[in-house]
Amino acid sequence: ANPMEVTRTTVSFESALPNKKGESFEDANVRKAFQLLAGIGSMVATYHRVRNGRRPVKPDSQFGHAGNFLYLLTAKKPDEYSEWAYDKVSILYADHEMNASTFALRVTCSTLADIGGAVTSAIAALAGPLHGGANQMAMEMMEKIGSVRNVESFLDAELAAGNKIMGFGHRVYRTDDPRALILKDIARKFAEKDAETRKWLEIAERTEAVMWEKRKIKPNIEFYAGVVLKALGVPNDVMPAIFACNRIAGWVAHYFEQAADNRIIRPVSEYVGPVEQPYVPIDQRS
Ligand SMILES: CC(C)(COP(=O)(O)OP(=O)(O)OC[C@H]1O[C@@H](n2cnc3c(N)ncnc32)[C@H](O)[C@@H]1OP(=O)(O)O)[C@@H](O)C(=O)NCCC(=O)NCCS
Repeated sequence: ANPMEVTRTTVSFESALPNKKGESFEDANVRKAFQLLAGIGSMVATYHRVRNGRRPVKPDSQFGHAGNFLYLLTAKKPDEYSEWAYDKVSILYADHEMNASTFALRVTCSTLADIGGAVTSAIAALAGPLHGGANQMAMEMMEKIGSVRNVESFLDAELAAGNKIMGFGHRVYRTDDPRALILKDIARKFAEKDAETRKWLEIAERTEAVMWEKRKIKPNIEFYAGVVLKALGVPNDVMPAIFACNRIAGWVAHYFEQAADNRIIRPVSEYVGPVEQPYVPIDQRS
């Protein structure tokens, strides 16, 4: 299973554990919210190590939440800039109003379901390539492009085939995604010291320029997140789960906000199919 699937299943499993004796539904939700906030990062990092036959790493109180995630994932003590950079990634991912996963969480919460179930729905909605899966796909696309010389021909072929370019476009932003600008600056800082990051950054910046020239579409958070996460030693298939590890802050806040002033979210759909069809007995149907 990939790390996002494992995260979804582990959160779901945890939410199935019985409440403490005498604990109310509300108190259990608050307890689980703290456990989720503190625990999702170590679930992802520990799973990644175990699947590679490595021993889990114990957190080190010398580091904060961000630094410990990198330490648990890589078993290497992060330098100050890496810890700072991942902290910024965490803040940028933490919340983004009514995106698809947060909406899924709010719908689930609105039925008075528990927080673990609501976060499970959110992770399921996040997993798709149009939402949280895009950072991995953007990074894999850059690897496929391989060199700054190939950017234009690659994009021409993809766009001519009607394919979406991962890490570009946004439902709400019609101009720069401000999160992408911050991540680009962080990627540039890593590129000053690291040749591999320099290579990905050159491809990324050329891709951004060509996409603007040809389609007037800007990169979103996921595009430069791929480059920054790669520089931090995050493997490609762990990148989508990084989104979940950090969006948990927003999900938890949205859960309690919805619960505090709840009404079931139940949209109506408009039927646009054929009407007044003649009834055909079952033995006369083709
Ligand atoms: C994010 C996304 C789902 C928004 O979808 P949306 O709101 O339906 O997109 P828009 O209405 O802005 O699309 C307008 C046009 O731009 C095109 N477009 C949007 N994103 C594109 C992309 N990444 N690559 C190529 N074309 C794109 C659409 O196909 C559409 O073209 P059309 O009018 O000829 O059909 C979409 O941009 C996308 O799939 N991006 C790639 C995945 C991604 O990076 N997701 C992470 C989001 S944070």
